[in-house]
Amino acid sequence: MKFISVLFLSLSLSMGVLATQPSIYGENGVVVAHDLQACEAGIEILKNGGNAVDAAVAVSYALAVTHPQAGNLGGGGFMLIHLADGQKVAIDYREMAPGQAHRDMFLDDSGRVVPLLSTRGGLAIGVPGTVAGLQLALDNYGSMARKKVMKPAIKLALKGFPIPYDLAYSFGWLNKAAEGFDETRRVFCRNGELYMPGEMFKQPDLAKTLKRIQKKGKAGFYEGEIAEALVKSSTKYGGTLTLDDLMNYTARVRQPVSGSYRGLEVLSMPPPSSGGIALISMLNMLEPMVFDSVRWHSAQHIQMLSEVEKRAYADRSVWLGDSDFLDVPQDKLLSKAYASMRMADYDSLSVTPSDSIYPLNDSQLAAIKLPGHESEETTHFSVVDKWGNAVSVTTTLNWSFGSYVTEEGYGFLLNNEMDDFSSKPGEPNSFGLIGNEANAIAPKKRMLSSMTPTILAKDGKVVLVVGAPGGSTIITTVLQIINNMVDFGMPVHDAVNVPRFHHQWRPDVIHYGPGAISPETMLVLRNMGYELEPRYGYGEVNAIARDKIFGGWIGAPDLKTASHGTAY
Ligand code: DON
Repeated sequence: MKFISVLFLSLSLSMGVLATQPSIYGENGVVVAHDLQACEAGIEILKNGGNAVDAAVAVSYALAVTHPQAGNLGGGGFMLIHLADGQKVAIDYREMAPGQAHRDMFLDDSGRVVPLLSTRGGLAIGVPGTVAGLQLALDNYGSMARKKVMKPAIKLALKGFPIPYDLAYSFGWLNKAAEGFDETRRVFCRNGELYMPGEMFKQPDLAKTLKRIQKKGKAGFYEGEIAEALVKSSTKYGGTLTLDDLMNYTARVRQPVSGSYRGLEVLSMPPPSSGGIALISMLNMLEPMVFDSVRWHSAQHIQMLSEVEKRAYADRSVWLGDSDFLDVPQDKLLSKAYASMRMADYDSLSVTPSDSIYPLNDSQLAAIKLPGHESEETTHFSVVDKWGNAVSVTTTLNWSFGSYVTEEGYGFLLNNEMDDFSSKPGEPNSFGLIGNEANAIAPKKRMLSSMTPTILAKDGKVVLVVGAPGGSTIITTVLQIINNMVDFGMPVHDAVNVPRFHHQWRPDVIHYGPGAISPETMLVLRNMGYELEPRYGYGEVNAIARDKIFGGWIGAPDLKTASHGTAY
């Protein structure tokens, strides 16, 4: 057993980026997640003999207690699993639209999108998937009883934990934002008598809810008193959720999408996420490009990624949605042939304006020939265990604290994931993402996501577990981590902690984080014809990579935020 903290002097110094960071190294398991308590919950399970899936379930329930902005019981998520025996599965516990949802539910009589209807209050809430998904993962791929894996979360809710500054700050912000949402303000903001940083935060209502789930499993949440109170809370705020909606919720085991990038196997989340398909298609578009003489975050580098990103996000707007409701041309969009056709008009010396990048049309899609054999406030965490099993989980309420509706008497928030549907063809959602028919609202349909839990493997062995929150920036964040490591040779902690930029086709703008682009490079890019805008709040990446020298695992929490990693 080993736990070593090492200071690495980063290679990226030579790239003009100061990133000297501590790494977390472990041979028997590593958990990297938003907060220390959640990491410790996972490590406790690993130490007691649980596998990475058991630990991931424990971390998820712990985050529902310690990170109420995004960790959840009333939301949904995706879990990507790569087992040491070669099995690869994706657990989809994305929220579903309620039975009474309909495509124009967020439009007024003259067909205009009604502000805030899809993001605040009852109509914003999709049927939560988390409890069902965690149960499915545990039953199929875990090795421990629910009773055991839920213990750390129940203890955290009952005994409380000292509120970190970032959480106390968020509660202060929520106190004003959630006016009218009395239960939310009672539970998280003590009716305006705010919790102070460092104060113990106990959640007796949530502990009661967790204990019920611990005892009765999925039925404890989707049936009986919790389900009844959930319907009541939805109705109180204008929602349409019914007991039937809850009873009929199903989580699914899906086949991950896969691709390759410079000899590495890339495994990611299939629909209803757009993340995996967009990520792999962007990697396919980048693969023919030579990075040897490209300087990191130079105009040339930013141009390469931005052009690739625009093309992938244009196709996302038309072709991606819930594959239980439409035929997503997945194999084609994942093919190298699609990537090369998509990049046919790419010119390394110029800008292709978003207005002249159209989503692929039917006949272009039909023209792609596949080789005969051919058979993506949220939070992300990564877990590995001593057997080589790896789990990558992204979970969310959508916006920070979701719909602001807290289930009365049960202590947990409900999502506002309905905003991830396209309320009206061609209109941007709150992340500026354009959607169309494929992502129109329908009863029981899952809204398109950008969450991109991803795992990279080499010769069948996991080398990187990665993912991020950040809405539409999730996919380009994961892309940049891979690009930083594979094409620029950065160690994982640098790849995670250097600044990032983002293009999503519309708006036709390169967004950049603090320090991501030098003033000189901005000038070059503007002269080329690019528009540039600063943007704060790129997602908290929590990654784990295989250590090349000692063979164990390096945990790489995102130090730009308050995230953590623990190893043993
Ligand atoms: O599923 C999605 O793509 C969004 N609901 C994720 C939201 C998100 O990442 C917000 N956080 N930063």
